[in-house]
Amino acid sequence: MSDATLFTLFFAALGVTVVLLVVALVLAHRHDARGHIKAVVGFVALLLVTLYFAEQLGRRFTFAETPKRVHLGLAFTTAGFLLVPLITGVQHWRGRMRRETHSRLALVFLLLTLSSVVTGVWMLSTRTPLAPAGSAAPAPG
Ligand code: HEM
Repeated sequence: MSDATLFTLFFAALGVTVVLLVVALVLAHRHDARGHIKAVVGFVALLLVTLYFAEQLGRRFTFAETPKRVHLGLAFTTAGFLLVPLITGVQHWRGRMRRETHSRLALVFLLLTLSSVVTGVWMLSTRTPLAPAGSAAPAPG
C-alpha cells in the first residue's frame, strides 16, 4: 500500500470516527438513548480502525520528539479514559447513575479526544520517512 493510500485511509477512518462521535452526542441530546448507544458502538469500532492505520503510519515515518511525546501521552490517556464514558453510560442506562455524571465525564473524554486529534496532526506535520527495511545506510563521507 502506498503512503498516499495509507494517509487517505487513515484520514477517512478518522473522519468517520469523529462524525460518529458527533452523531452519538446529538442523539443523546435528543434523548434517543438507543440511537446514542448504537452510534457509540460504531464510534469505538471506527476508532480501532483509525488506531490500526495510525500504527501503520508509525512504522513508516519518524516524528519530531516533542510533538510525538505530547501526542502519545494524550492519545494513551484518551484511549484509557474511553472506559469512563462507556462504564458510566452503561450505569446510567441501567438507572444506577445520574445522567449529569455520565455527561460531565463524557465531556472530559471529548476534550481529551480533541487534544489528541490536534496534537496528532501536529505530530504528523513533522514526519520523516523511515529508510525502507534492508536498505543500507549511506556510507559516511
Ligand atoms: C464514548 C462514549 C460516550 C460518550 C462520549 C457519551 C456522551 C454522552 C453525553 C454527552 C450525554 C448527555 C447528552 C446531553 O445531555 O446533551 C449522554 C447521555 C446518555 N448516554 Fe452516553 N456517552 C457515551 C457512551 C454511552 C454508553 C456506552 C451508554 C450505554 C450503554 C450511554 C448511555 C447514555 C444514556 C442512556 C444517556 C441519556 C440519554 C437521554 O437523555 O435519554 N452512553 N452520553
